[in-house]
Amino acid sequence: MSASDRKRWPEVERRSSSRRACAEPRDVERRSGLDRRNEAAWKPIPVDESERSDEDLVAEAIRAREFAQAHYSGFKVGAALEFAGGGLATGCNVENATYGLTLCAERVALVKALSEGHTAFSRIAIVADTADPTPPCGSCRQLLWEYCGDIAVILGNLDGPTGRYSLKSLLPLAFDARLLKSGE
Ligand code: THU
Repeated sequence: MSASDRKRWPEVERRSSSRRACAEPRDVERRSGLDRRNEAAWKPIPVDESERSDEDLVAEAIRAREFAQAHYSGFKVGAALEFAGGGLATGCNVENATYGLTLCAERVALVKALSEGHTAFSRIAIVADTADPTPPCGSCRQLLWEYCGDIAVILGNLDGPTGRYSLKSLLPLAFDARLLKSGE
């Protein structure tokens, strides 16, 4: 910020320096970089998946599903988003009388993680009580791609995992910030 900008927007300068004082995400997560225009940012950091199996992650999503607020559809969904460092955030769908304000389980998990400083992810498990897998909706695919890159998507039901996909295979030819480069 230039000296003249500082004079015009002292508030902005104050806010940006207080941001720097915020806690940094753990080292392992910082390595992914946050440059969404950079190819490397779309590649998830490999974690030692032996530490938590797909079954374990699905079990976390099953637990989260219990909290679903699905009063209108009756369709409860749970999600568990794993951080590159091994931690995780869970989410459930949260519906509302307007219907249109419904939050999907995946997005709840993602927003919880981002709002606590986690920026690098490895897998997400998504669970519903259906024989057929419940894949993420288009909006969730887009947001997961933006913030998580090509993570593994584990679909499951109350009996455990039923399928494993790469996010890229679920969202081919994605629009993302790399395309905005040409507009600079
Ligand atoms: N839902 C999710 O939470 N995730 C999905 O992947 C598919 C759909 C929710 C939204 C809504 O509350 C209910 O399931 C029915 O669409």
